[in-house]
Amino acid sequence: MKYTVIVANNETDFGIKAASAFTQAVRQYDKPDVILPTGNTPLPFYAALREMRAKKIPAFFYRQLDEYLGLWAGHRKLFLEEMKRNLLEPLRIGASLSFNGAADPQGEFMRVVTAMKSLKPAKIGVIGIGGNGHVGFNEPGSSFFDGARIIKLAQKTREDNSKDWEFQDGPFPTHAITLGIRDLRELEQTILLVRGEGKAEILAKALTGPVTQDVPASYLQNQRNMTVIADRTALSKMPGFNPPL
Ligand code: GLP
Repeated sequence: MKYTVIVANNETDFGIKAASAFTQAVRQYDKPDVILPTGNTPLPFYAALREMRAKKIPAFFYRQLDEYLGLWAGHRKLFLEEMKRNLLEPLRIGASLSFNGAADPQGEFMRVVTAMKSLKPAKIGVIGIGGNGHVGFNEPGSSFFDGARIIKLAQKTREDNSKDWEFQDGPFPTHAITLGIRDLRELEQTILLVRGEGKAEILAKALTGPVTQDVPASYLQNQRNMTVIADRTALSKMPGFNPPL
């Protein structure tokens, strides 16, 4: 397995390095479709992109990776709402595919599957990793051949993601819609973002343990053109990893 590791020294450095790797990848194409993640990990990356201002960022279209189901329209925790606040609206970026987490789940699933059939594979994907090794919402047990689908959220994911959920946000979702690992395997370029000690164990497991659907992110071991951007704490359990300060 071959991939590039870029070590970030702090949060700002992480954002700048991620934004630089991302814009470099986007520049290789003409308005590519890119998959972008939500969660806490990419926040410094989006902050760095906003700092760069729209003029310096090569054009691209956003393709949504995953979304909660069963929330109401405009709910602040919908991933699409987060993406609008953090990136799409400040930089005026259009979407080639986004999910409606407030729609009837079966109808939304059918719409997404039809849309994915008419779209070419995305070129670039920036992804994060969940504490249980999920990518997007491909929870442990997901096949590497699965496409977009509705998924029941794992208990660990519900615990992790409900930490910053407030009373007025209503009950935490039980289900989500996600692109599949098959869709991610088709990417020409993958940028994996990982921050914090809490991710150290799962990162090491995903990149150096057995390739298995029990650790969905382990598919990355066979992924072409992969760049890992991580801070030192996230890399601390990678065997033999000891970068100079
Ligand atoms: C979330 C999302 C993933 C994200 C991951 C990590 O549940 N489904 O797309 O990459 O979990 O989130 P965080 O960066 O907040 O740890």
